[in-house]
Amino acid sequence: MDNIKFFSDNINICDKTIILRLDLNVPIFEKEIQDETRILINLPFLKNLLEKKAKVIIISHLGRPKGLRSSSLSLTPVYKFLKKHLKNNVYFFTGDINNKETKSKFSYLKSGEILLLENIRFFKEESENDDNFAKILASLGDIYINDAFSCSHRKQASIHKITKYIKDCYGGPLLKKEIFAINSILHNKKEPVTCIIGGSKISTKINVIINLIKNVNNIVIVGAMANNFLIYGGFKIGKSLVEKNSNETIKKIYSEALKYKCKIYIPEDANVAKDLKGSGKVKKLDLIDQDDIILDIGPNTINTIKQIIDNSNMVLWNGPAGYFENINFADGTLAIAKKISENTNNKSLVSILGGGDTISAINKDNSKFSFTHLSTAGGAFLEFLEGKDLPGISVLK
Ligand code: 3PG
Repeated sequence: MDNIKFFSDNINICDKTIILRLDLNVPIFEKEIQDETRILINLPFLKNLLEKKAKVIIISHLGRPKGLRSSSLSLTPVYKFLKKHLKNNVYFFTGDINNKETKSKFSYLKSGEILLLENIRFFKEESENDDNFAKILASLGDIYINDAFSCSHRKQASIHKITKYIKDCYGGPLLKKEIFAINSILHNKKEPVTCIIGGSKISTKINVIINLIKNVNNIVIVGAMANNFLIYGGFKIGKSLVEKNSNETIKKIYSEALKYKCKIYIPEDANVAKDLKGSGKVKKLDLIDQDDIILDIGPNTINTIKQIIDNSNMVLWNGPAGYFENINFADGTLAIAKKISENTNNKSLVSILGGGDTISAINKDNSKFSFTHLSTAGGAFLEFLEGKDLPGISVLK
């Protein structure tokens, strides 16, 4: 936290080219943006840079294309959104940036204009944190700003290695806000602390749990993550999403939990369907059929989680409890959101929520929820809670 160089208003950016790393990784379905939160929160800073007559090159990823171009993971809908919401000129570059001529291709960019680069993960060199690629990216601008806290746990070229080749590197205002908010809450820890972890990015999160055990009193596992724990417990999960070879990790999680007196809760019942468009049927765990897919937690699990929240003074939550994209499987997530929000308002519960999917899920409901801090970050938020140094932040020190 200390020594991080944050961007400040007195830095002269007039006519300078700023490389701005944002997280515009929004959910897109059939070319339509499903939740705009991650773009909207970036607009004030973007407008500020443009008013000060900077030229802004935006870099973002979308999904995990593994170095291959795919039209469903194109940032085109994000480009259209920016064009509609900003009165300045916005350009979109979809060509190859992985060569030395790239800089000359952008010479048309004037002060007060934006250039959005196509999904940076279309280049495998991004995820490989490739030195040469980072050098090319750095050559495009005079100043680098990382305002993507949610990606700062990734050792990738546009987050990490780029800072090796550009002298003026800063953290942006959103990154600063996230770090300050999460830090100040964690330094005033109010036990019992409960951490609820869900979502479908199992591989990213399962290892995080081991480190969290030392810092929290309860861990509640929901979402696709829970399927691994159910298998470990001897239950059948039909065709549900699962991460292979996780038994050893789970064994370690339980033994560490015993050592540090942290309670682990897994679902008691489930809401299942035969496919993602299904309407849902509540089942006991020992009655899951071979062709069932677990898509949400069941009512008994919801009640248990509500009790755990009632008995907590601090709740950290990352990842939805079910496949909320189909409203039939949003009950678990919304019940958790409602309970945390009520207790934040009425019982001075300290609550931190994190993750793009968690935010999209609660935005689907018209209720106005209140939380102590809402983070747009998922994996980065969890790793930060673990007390890890995030590579994208360490390089800004
Ligand atoms: C997120 O959605 O948490 C961030 O955009 C990072 O995405 P990633 O887990 O694919 O790196």
